[in-house]
Amino acid sequence: MRELALHIMDLIENGLNAGATLVELTVEEDRSAHRLAVHIRDNGRGIPETLVNEVLNPFFTTRTTRRVGMGLSLFREASRRCEGSFDLKSEEGKGTEVSATFRLGHIDLAPLGDMGSTLSCLIIGNPGVDFLYRHLVDDRVFELDTRKVKDQLGEAHINEPEVVQYIGALVNESLSELGAGRFEIPRPRESCREVQDRHHPLPAEAGGVQSITMEE
Ligand SMILES: Nc1ncnc2c1ncn2[C@@H]1O[C@H](COP(=O)(O)OP(=O)(O)OP(=O)(O)O)[C@@H](O)[C@H]1O
Ligand SMILES: [Mg+2]
Repeated sequence: MRELALHIMDLIENGLNAGATLVELTVEEDRSAHRLAVHIRDNGRGIPETLVNEVLNPFFTTRTTRRVGMGLSLFREASRRCEGSFDLKSEEGKGTEVSATFRLGHIDLAPLGDMGSTLSCLIIGNPGVDFLYRHLVDDRVFELDTRKVKDQLGEAHINEPEVVQYIGALVNESLSELGAGRFEIPRPRESCREVQDRHHPLPAEAGGVQSITMEE
C-alpha cells in the first residue's frame, strides 16, 4: 500500500466491523533505534482462537461481499519487507491487538500519509466510537482522545463538519510540529575529499595533491 495511513484505516475498520466502541492507535517513531512501531487495539468481539492463524491468510475473510481479505496479510507483508515484526493477539469477546514494526529508513517503508484525514474519516463515519490516538517521536508525544473532545464539546457533536475539520487540522499540525513521518535516516554528508579518498586514495608521499591527466 502506498501509505501507512491506508493500512491503519483498514485495520481500524476491522475493529469497527467487529463492533468495537473504543479503538486505540499508537504510532511510535524511535529515531535512535531506527524503529517504527504501529499498535492498534480494539474492544470488538475478537477472533475465535481457532481462526487467529487463518485470518492472516489472504484467502480468509468473514466478509460476505468478496472472498479475499487482504488487510492483515498486506500489513504483515509490509512489515516483513521492512525488516520488522508482526503480531496479532485476539481474545474472543474482549478484543484484538495488531502490532507491527518497521525499520526506519528502510527503502521500502511507505510514507506515513495523511493521519489528519484518516482520523477525520473515522470520526465522521463512527461518531459513537471513541478513538485514542497517540503518536510518539522519540520522547515527544501527541495525543488525541475523542472522549476528552466530546466532554469539551457540550452541545455540539463530534461529527459536525467544523469539529471534524478542526480535528483533522490539529492532528496534521501537531504531527508536523513533532517532526513525525520523516522516515528517511539522514546520512552524514561526505566531503569531496572523503569521496576522493574512497575512490582514488592518494599515496602518502603525494602530500594530498594529485594531478589527473586526461587521456584522449
Ligand atoms: N480487529 C478485528 N476484530 C475481529 N475480527 C477481525 C479483526 N481483524 C480481522 N478480523 C477477522 O479477520 C478477517 C481478515 O481480516 P483482513 O483485514 O485481513 O480482511 P477483511 O477485513 O476480511 O477484508 P479487507 O481487509 O481486504 O477489506 C476478517 O474478515 C475478520 O473476520
Ligand atoms: Mg480488513
